[in-house]
Amino acid sequence: MKKLLRLDCSSRISGSHSRELADYFEKKWMAANSDGIVIRRDLAKQQLPHIQNNTIEGFYTPVEHMTPESKKATALSDELITELKSANEILINSPLYNLNTPSNLKAYLDQVVRIGHTFNINENGYYGLLENKMAYLITVKGGAYKGTPMEKYDFQKPYLQAILGHMGIKTQGLFSLEGTSDSKIVEQNKHVVKNSIDQSFKKIKQ
Ligand SMILES: Cc1cc2nc3c(=O)[nH]c(=O)nc-3n(C[C@H](O)[C@H](O)[C@H](O)COP(=O)(O)O)c2cc1C
Repeated sequence: MKKLLRLDCSSRISGSHSRELADYFEKKWMAANSDGIVIRRDLAKQQLPHIQNNTIEGFYTPVEHMTPESKKATALSDELITELKSANEILINSPLYNLNTPSNLKAYLDQVVRIGHTFNINENGYYGLLENKMAYLITVKGGAYKGTPMEKYDFQKPYLQAILGHMGIKTQGLFSLEGTSDSKIVEQNKHVVKNSIDQSFKKIKQ
């Protein structure tokens, strides 16, 4: 039985294009995995705290030296990592906010990217510990970036792929919706993205 961890982060609850595309993806995923389970974590509805000094100290304290305080400071990270590890696949749907992901998603990543748990280091450098997982990314932005001088300012897609890769998670599918601020093109663009989601499930079936 496959598990999909779905992370929503748009601050808009209704009228959100990223949530709509994630709903579409989830439906297709359920059709392809009839006994699958979707775990939803809504990072906008349930905001996570930023990591603090004692969280970082806890991250770098060997288990045998953890105090009740450092255990408490890392308890949320433990919970989120357990949830992430329990999933086979991850769906992240993320709007572009000021050229990057919303800060609620960054706060989540700061809690789960953790030495000894999701990545490690040896004489050859860093390596990921979640190599058996794959991710699907749905990115949404108000403007047009691809193929324009703005493309180099889109830090969201390269950041998400890099940080997932740091944990060993491969990006299996990347779906990008642009131009949501232009009501004349948004529905057509969304149709194209939904088609490419359909195509990716057809490929998986083959
Ligand atoms: C705080 C904020 C910052 C934004 N920054 C950008 C940006 O840098 N570039 C861009 O193209 N669109 C930007 N937008 C527009 C959103 O990416 C766009 O409205 C998108 O559709 C939001 O996702 P949603 O429809 O799922 O809520 C921003 C929107 C907000 C609310």
